[in-house]
Amino acid sequence: MNRKDDHIRLALAQNHPVNDFDLIRFKHVSFPEVSFDEINLSVDIFGTSFPLPFFINAMTGGSEQAGAINQRLAQLANHFSIPMATGSVTSALKDPTLLPTFTIIKKTYPKLFLIANIGAGNDVIMAKRVIDALQPNALQIHVNAPQEALMPEGDRDFRGWLKKIQDIRQSITIPLIVKEVGFGMSFETMNTLKSIGIQYIDVAGKGGTNFAVIENNRQTEPLSIFNEWGLTTVESLLEAQKVKDIYVIASGGIRHGLDVVKALALGAQYVGLSGYFLKLVSEYDHDQAVKKVEHLIQEIKTAMVILGAKTTQELITKSFFIGDLLGLQGK
Ligand code: FNR
Repeated sequence: MNRKDDHIRLALAQNHPVNDFDLIRFKHVSFPEVSFDEINLSVDIFGTSFPLPFFINAMTGGSEQAGAINQRLAQLANHFSIPMATGSVTSALKDPTLLPTFTIIKKTYPKLFLIANIGAGNDVIMAKRVIDALQPNALQIHVNAPQEALMPEGDRDFRGWLKKIQDIRQSITIPLIVKEVGFGMSFETMNTLKSIGIQYIDVAGKGGTNFAVIENNRQTEPLSIFNEWGLTTVESLLEAQKVKDIYVIASGGIRHGLDVVKALALGAQYVGLSGYFLKLVSEYDHDQAVKKVEHLIQEIKTAMVILGAKTTQELITKSFFIGDLLGLQGK
C-alpha cells in the first residue's frame, strides 16, 4: 500500500480523547458583559483577513484516495473561506502523475487561500517548483526529524535544514510557515527560527495525531520507546510565549471549539486542525460536515461569550489554572 494511504488509514484509526488542553481550566467569569451579537471571530494573518480563527492544516495528496480527500477538504475550506494546507508536495515533483491530486485544489477553487507543504530538506529550486505548480498563497515547510528517523525509508541526514529554510525565506515572496508534525517546538527552536527571519511558526505539538505511533505501526521492528516523544501543544505554546514578535500558530490535538479558544488564550494567533478535518470528510458528506463545523464555531462563540471576550485577540487577557489544584500555576 502507498505510504500516503497508510498515513490516512492509521491516522483515522487513532483516537485522542484526552490531552494537555484538559489541564487548562479558565477562571469562570460571572459578569461577562458581552452579547453574542458582538463576537468577532476574524483573524488577520499572512497579510490577509480571515473570518474564522482556524484552518485546515497539512495532510495529504499523492494518491488517488488522497486526491479525493483533498477535493472534499477544499470544498469545506472554500465554504467557510478558511485556508487549507496540502500534504507534502515533494513526492509529486518526483512523479508528476501525482501532481493533479494537489493542483486540483486551486483549479476547482481559485479563490481558496492555499498553503503548499514541503519537507525541510528541500532547497530553493524545489520550493520554487512547488510554487510554480500549485500557485499557493503561502508555503509551509515541515520539520519532522523523529518521523523520518522512525521510517526505514526515511531521511538519515538532518544536516543543513536551517540553511535551506533560510535560503527559501530569502528567495520567495509569499508568507513562509515552518511547522512540526505533532512533536511540538521548544523556545530554543522557535528562537532559532526567528533568528533566520521566520515570522510564522506552527508549533504542531503532541496531543493529537501521533506520527511516531503511525510510523511504528508500519514497521515489523518498531522503535516504540519513541511513541511519546515531543512537547505537547500546550507546552509548546507556553514556550512560545517567551519568543516575541512572531505569529504563533497552534496545532496538534485540537478536538473542539474549547481547545481552539484555549490555544488562543495561551497566545496563539491562529489554530490549525488536521485529524479533526480528516475524520469529518471521511465520515460525513459535505452538508453534514458543514453542520459539524458550524457546531465547532458555535462552541468557540459560546466560550468567548462566557469568558467575556469579543475578539479572539482579547482571549490572551483571560485567566486560567493549569492542573487541578487551585493556584498550581497559570495566569
Ligand atoms: C499529516 N501531517 C502532515 N504534516 C505536514 O506538514 N506534511 C504532511 O505531509 C503531513 N501529512 C499528514 C497526513 C495525515 C493523514 C495526517 C493526519 C497528518 C501532520 C499534521 O499537519 C499535524 O501536524 C498533525 O496531524 C497534528 O495535528 P492534529 O492531527 O492532531 O490536528
